[in-house]
Amino acid sequence: MSFKTLAFFCCLALCAGFTLAQESKQSSEGLTGTWYCQFESPVGLQTYHFHIAIDGAGDATVNAEVKARDEVRKVEFVDVKVGEDAISFVEVRQFGEREFRIEYSGKLNGKELAVTRSFGERGGQDALATRDLPQSPPQESLQPVVEVKIDRIIKDAFKDAFLIGMAGDLPSHYSDEELKLAAEHFAAITPENCMKPERVHPAEDRWNFESSDALVEWAQMHKMTIHGHTLVWHAQTPNWFFEGGDSETIKQRMKQHIETLAGRYKGQLQSWDVVNEAISDGGNAETAKTENLRNSNWLQALGPEFLTLAFKYAREADPDAVLYYNDYNIESGPKHASSMVLLKRLLDEGAPIDGVGIQGHWRSGRVPFDDIEKAIADYASLGLKVSITELDVTIRGESGGQFGRRQSRSNTPASLDDLNAQAEDYAKLFSIFKKHEDAIERVTFWGLSDRRTWRWGQHPLLFDANNNPKPAYASIVALTRGDEAESATNQPKKVEIEDGGQGPYSAIVTESPTLSGMTIYRPEDLNAFGTEQRLPVLLWGNGACANTTEEHKNFLNEIASHGYIVLGIGLLDQLQQRDESSRQRTNSSQLIAALDWIIAQDANDNSIYFEKIDTTKVAAMGMSCGGLQAIEISDDPRITTTVVCNSGVLPSRSPMASMPDLTKDDLKKFHGPVLYIMGGPSDIAYNNAMDDFSRVDHVPIVMANLDVGHGGTYRRPHGGKYSPVALAWLDWQLKGKQDAAKTFLGENSQLANDYEWKIETKNIHQ
Ligand code: XIL
Repeated sequence: MSFKTLAFFCCLALCAGFTLAQESKQSSEGLTGTWYCQFESPVGLQTYHFHIAIDGAGDATVNAEVKARDEVRKVEFVDVKVGEDAISFVEVRQFGEREFRIEYSGKLNGKELAVTRSFGERGGQDALATRDLPQSPPQESLQPVVEVKIDRIIKDAFKDAFLIGMAGDLPSHYSDEELKLAAEHFAAITPENCMKPERVHPAEDRWNFESSDALVEWAQMHKMTIHGHTLVWHAQTPNWFFEGGDSETIKQRMKQHIETLAGRYKGQLQSWDVVNEAISDGGNAETAKTENLRNSNWLQALGPEFLTLAFKYAREADPDAVLYYNDYNIESGPKHASSMVLLKRLLDEGAPIDGVGIQGHWRSGRVPFDDIEKAIADYASLGLKVSITELDVTIRGESGGQFGRRQSRSNTPASLDDLNAQAEDYAKLFSIFKKHEDAIERVTFWGLSDRRTWRWGQHPLLFDANNNPKPAYASIVALTRGDEAESATNQPKKVEIEDGGQGPYSAIVTESPTLSGMTIYRPEDLNAFGTEQRLPVLLWGNGACANTTEEHKNFLNEIASHGYIVLGIGLLDQLQQRDESSRQRTNSSQLIAALDWIIAQDANDNSIYFEKIDTTKVAAMGMSCGGLQAIEISDDPRITTTVVCNSGVLPSRSPMASMPDLTKDDLKKFHGPVLYIMGGPSDIAYNNAMDDFSRVDHVPIVMANLDVGHGGTYRRPHGGKYSPVALAWLDWQLKGKQDAAKTFLGENSQLANDYEWKIETKNIHQ
């Protein structure tokens, strides 16, 4: 397939790869004709049909039809240059007042044309063009990695604490679905670009209020408060402000800009970012003692006073607006220290400043939680309000900045691990924000979804690129559940089954907002566990690889009541009553993600599981299709033992797309003792299991059959006769109980003496 994972990279590095033979007018047969290629873009996939024609004199013309969503656009390229096996051309596009040049270059590479396009400083993309129409991108990209159900709307969940906002230049270019999403979930809006100087005031005598007026009207219609962004900034500000004038002229231009813009929306905007990003990056112990101002055009023209002036002009233009200084990375290190120096000076000078915006462009796994908490308190101690103004947390492994620099990952879906790690970071952030709700006025996400984000490809927001809520959404709103603990409907979800089981620890079935799509069975009272006695871990996959443990709940609950924690694939709300979502496809990677999660919980002193889990004792278990999921993950070195129930590897590749695609070779994945619990010859998986058993010679293996057929005994009271057998195995393998070994060991083992069971063993020694 010709669709190639796009890579962003710097055009220069790229173009250096080949030289255009410009002087050669020799036309190349190979280049002419139609080529198809696809580029990912923030608004979706764009399919280009390039038509290249080269005349006898070697002069070339290039045009294209470009399909994006359901629209087709025709493009005539300019500046076409052609060489023997390479071609370059330019697309000129008009966005509002501005003209953009997108440069394309193509080089023949066998039967393909390697095309790159670049947007100047904003980076580039490459793709392979072919003679055939490319296939659509993989369907998976439409499916959420995990189904997340949300039971509270984020803006409502935090309405007593602070406003929840988003950035975007709504409503134009947003779909109806997106607009609905925005209005439903967010209480505040920040114009992402349309009120920036370059957009709204491109020339001294030219104003462009079309988009900003539309945004204000739309927001008012949806009762959203508006935060203006941004009046004075070094970036996205046209040069005319600074050209051909002394400092007095430049000061007047600033004044007139602020008067006109803030004045136009006077009384309609709740607040403004008056000055954006005035402090230099980095810094050291020396600069930490100073304001360390960025050497911007504003600083050069007006000196450090430019900030105070800007605030004064803004106050005059809109006396009721809350006025902010806004910046990134000001929560940490020398830049934080400089921000304190600057803010104190502004307050001393009588600048009418009301608040500080911490932008909040962070990265999962690297969020400076402690710095953030301290910074909020520091700013509040100056009497300033605080807002988190541009929040986004890119997923682990991706870099910050506007476009993903880890090129190859830019359009790969986020993994469940990454989504869960991100959810945990977001939850921690919001628990800090909530703690400081008195100081915090607003928390605004920088974009609507992973499609509508400047950090596209890095999955930073609460909705995925198809507008589905992500685990982060659930983890954030879950923080507020406790607020209404008295009301029965808002209790953290927990279900009791069969009076908590027969074991010494009464079990419950529950879930965690930071572990999406999994059901947890565990002793209710975790106080019994700690350094002395920890809970071994069971990872469980269901029959039919279903998205609920419903069928196995008695069995799993019984095991948990004997002092285990079970992480089973599936949605808790499907436990009592199943609907369509219980049939959703699941994946063995969920088990690995769950294992990562519980290990992280055990190490996290904020977690209820802190130092209560035996992370070195882990069983991979599952029934039927879920048994194959257990085999599939058995090569993970953290897994101690595998228990395969009513299952075995099929002789030929699995006929069902939703089943793990295993071959007998995968049996090599076992590296610890293995138990098969089967239903006898009438179990449809019997022959497969017996064949597995005959093939496995490299690890201890036990085959236990009870003649009940494929369904097993899971649904019987307390999981029926399978439960004591599974428990004996787990007690032996994971808790080292030698007594329990007697169930399996030797000719006189308990199962050997039990006429109902048939047991066979290999490589097992006393
Ligand atoms: C970004 C926008 O999201 C992009 O669409 C635009 O191309 C560049 O600017 N700090 C800010 C925001 O204050 O204005 C920036 O927004 C992101 C960094």
